[in-house]
Amino acid sequence: MNDLGPGTMKPPAGDYTIPQNWSHYTAEEHATWDALYARQTKLLPGRVVPQFLDGLKLLGLEGPGIPNFEQLSDILMKRTGWQVVAVEGLIPDGAFFDHLANRRFVAGNFIRRPDQLDYLEEPDVFHDVFGHVPLLAHPVFADYMQAYGKGGQRATQLGAIQRLSRLYWYTVEFGLIRNGDDLAIYGAGIVSSAGESVFALDDPSPNRIGFNLERVMRTPYRIDDYQQTYFVIDSFEDLLHQTLDQDFAPIYAAMDAKQDFAITDIAPNDLIYTQGTQAYASAKAAKVE
Ligand SMILES: [Fe+2]
Repeated sequence: MNDLGPGTMKPPAGDYTIPQNWSHYTAEEHATWDALYARQTKLLPGRVVPQFLDGLKLLGLEGPGIPNFEQLSDILMKRTGWQVVAVEGLIPDGAFFDHLANRRFVAGNFIRRPDQLDYLEEPDVFHDVFGHVPLLAHPVFADYMQAYGKGGQRATQLGAIQRLSRLYWYTVEFGLIRNGDDLAIYGAGIVSSAGESVFALDDPSPNRIGFNLERVMRTPYRIDDYQQTYFVIDSFEDLLHQTLDQDFAPIYAAMDAKQDFAITDIAPNDLIYTQGTQAYASAKAAKVE
């Protein structure tokens, strides 16, 4: 089933992991999780890819309270060979890729304050666990995440981390997927955000474009606000094959001779689901000036 061997193994020391200290969470912190959980689970049906809701159920994430990573890992390990390990916050790329390549998902063990329900800069336990972990129970998506970690290790040697990080951003964090005749959300940055869960699907502002590996890796992204372009995959199987079946080294090399797209561009070969008005981003920019 996986290449980790039997049982839940402890990751090696010096890898930025820390104990989750589940018993140290306060009642207020658990209540923050519950408030976020209730808000998102009310919003998501009909918007999120059904496999995400399946994952919430399968992993017993319905709560109440902040999940215990050891219990979560026990269930996840049996299904797809993944574990969830705690970290203080963002960790260096090399350690992050190493964890993913070994089917360990790193999650911040802290939770946002009650006055930060809508926005925070560093990923907390709600973003990391609610946003990312349900799809790690899906065998194909679980394989994609490991493939990404291995791709990160290769990209490090090839000096192409920036290119590859765009793939993560536009799939794992902010990806859309076809769901019958409609689109659905699956990226963790969207599904853990009340505002973007609606904006990403319904707002006329952003572009929604069919996924293409090179196109994605030539497109910059927003870290400070809703995305101006979203990329739509056909299925998790297609995403996995597009990334596993191609040698990235010549793709990176070919891209060196090409310019990046502007964040709002529509390219000649794009499969356009929505040509966005960009009204949201324009209004925000006008306010800043
Ligand atoms: Fe994330």
